[in-house]
Formats: sequence, structure tokens, C-alpha cells
Amino acid sequence: MAEIGEVLFDVNTITAKVMELARFISEDYTGKELLLVCVLKGAAIFTADLMRYITIPVTIEFIQAESYGAFRTSSRNVRITKDLKTDIKGRHVLLVDTIIDTGETMHALLRLFADRNPASLNIAVLLDKTSKRTIDVPVAYKGFKVPDKFVVGYGLDSGEQYRNLPYIAVLETDAE
Ligand code: IMP
Ligand code: MG
Repeated sequence: MAEIGEVLFDVNTITAKVMELARFISEDYTGKELLLVCVLKGAAIFTADLMRYITIPVTIEFIQAESYGAFRTSSRNVRITKDLKTDIKGRHVLLVDTIIDTGETMHALLRLFADRNPASLNIAVLLDKTSKRTIDVPVAYKGFKVPDKFVVGYGLDSGEQYRNLPYIAVLETDAE
């Protein structure tokens, strides 16, 4: 059995942080056209909110990556299950995910995208689980640090559940 435990970030806290990140991004990319690449499915809600507060010209595309192998931990195998249909050559690309954990997913996406010659390539994440990082990935925009706990809500799931929670909470699991 799993149940929702401590709420780490409530709606107001998340909104304030998303607005702040959007302000930094809008300042840094002033005079440029920004392409947000939303990493499905987890980043759908964060990207939609972030985009609403960005004040420069911005477009959105979607990519889906799966790391498979383990259940609640990431494995080193990252597979692209849905790729972009747009050519990113010469574009200013910002990869958006809700959480970075081991860093393997973002590392794989950075390598894939770098080969496509964008004008610039950066990463934005709302949550950073630093303690689990196995690979060094440069993250230009990050919201909050999170402890080494499994969290759900605001797009993040456990077995596809809980993505709809407007807050971010720890998922407590009973040892069987
Ligand atoms: P990474 O490749 O280990 O950095 O994993 C990133 C992906 O793992 C995220 O896009 C999430 O889908 C998933 N993930 C990592 N930690 C959590 C968590 O605490 N809750 C929900 N999903 C997580
Ligand atoms: Mg998931």
C-alpha cells in the first residue's frame, strides 16, 4: 500500500517558484525565440505553467523518454519513445522536466540534441534530487532541492497515479 505523506511544496510555493524561473528565463533569452521541449509525461504540467509566465516569444514541443529496468529507481537505459518532429538546428532549446534524479535521462537527451546543432541548449527542472546523481549534467534553471524520497504530484506519478495532485508530496510505502 502507498499513501500520500508529507507535502513538500504546496500550490502557492510551486506557483511562486515557477513564476521566478519564468522571469529568469525571460530575462536570459530576451531578443531570442525560445523553444521549450517538454519531457513527457511528467513535465506536462510544469511546462504548461512555466510557459504561461514566460514573456518572450516561445514555442513548445514534446519528447518522451523512458528509463526502464527498475520500478522506482532510474536505470541507465534511456530510450526515446516519442521524438520531436521539428528541426532544432539553430534554435534556442530549453529542455524542461519536473525532476532530475540520477541525471541519466537529461544526459541522454543532451547528447541526442547536441548532435542536431541547436543555437543553444539548456535544462530547466523544478526539482533536483541531488543525492541520487550518477552523472554530471549542467542544469541552468532549478527550482527546489528535494531529499532522497519518492515524490508525487504536479505531474509526477507512481504507476501513472497522482499526476493530478496540485502539490508535491512524499509517497509513503509500507514494507510488506
Ligand atoms: P533520472 O534519469 O534518474 O534523472 O530520472 C528522471 C525521471 O525519473 C523523471 O523524469 C521522473 O519521471 C522519474 N523520477 C525520478 N524521481 C522521481 C520521483 O521521486 N517521483 C516520480 N518520478 C521520479
Ligand atoms: Mg514516472
